[in-house]
Amino acid sequence: MAYITSAALADKGFLVLDSYNQELDPQEWLDIEYNDWKSSGDTRFAPLASAKGEIECNGFWNHVPPRTDKDGVWIDEQTAKAPNLTRRAQEPGANVGRCRVIELQPTPYGECLYNLHQDDNNRLNPDGTGWVVRGFFNLTDDKDSYFVLRENRTDPSVEYRIALPAGAQLIVDTQRLWHATTHNGTEPRYCLITSWTSGPELDAYIEKYHGTQDVENYPVDQAILDAGYEEQARRDAARAAYYAAKGQQEKIAMSEA
Ligand SMILES: [Fe+2]
Repeated sequence: MAYITSAALADKGFLVLDSYNQELDPQEWLDIEYNDWKSSGDTRFAPLASAKGEIECNGFWNHVPPRTDKDGVWIDEQTAKAPNLTRRAQEPGANVGRCRVIELQPTPYGECLYNLHQDDNNRLNPDGTGWVVRGFFNLTDDKDSYFVLRENRTDPSVEYRIALPAGAQLIVDTQRLWHATTHNGTEPRYCLITSWTSGPELDAYIEKYHGTQDVENYPVDQAILDAGYEEQARRDAARAAYYAAKGQQEKIAMSEA
């Protein structure tokens, strides 16, 4: 047995779809209710679908009974305020698990590297069913910001940097790729994140919107990259020292975003 996956994601683990005309839609992300939920930086989350239809962000496996990141329950009071975001998350017709808007405060490159993590979307996911991946729809026009994806958290030799203007649409195997966002700016960044189950519906959606892995890396000066590597190493060392002092095992992989 093996999971059902998207062939288009097999090589690099991410795809960039056609850009969405975000300008036409109202800023629904400003109307919905946010929870303080710290994950990979200074963040809050506004769920549209959650484990039981409540405004909370916990992994579905932390509920009773525990389950994988599928069959999210839409939250009526949130979807009523964000019909366009809801429509977009549902458009592929793939099963939706968690669906929420992330609010991320400005995050420089070095801090982003420190935040790199893999998601845990497929915990408890039965073998032979669809592999859960994530859709990312950038909502704010973050022209100086970029998503960072790596195969190995501390190895910059494979690093994809995806530009995040308004309307940018990505699909990422976030359990495979280490990921976080560099957000340069003064205002928070907002992005709709949806857990989708891989299968023919998602494949058709990828094809319809011309999903491609062949995109240019967002250009960043080597000096900024080098300073970021140093900052990541410095923070990693500080975290390791902290856990060593407490006599606990370090926990790097954060799983909730
Ligand atoms: Fe994540």
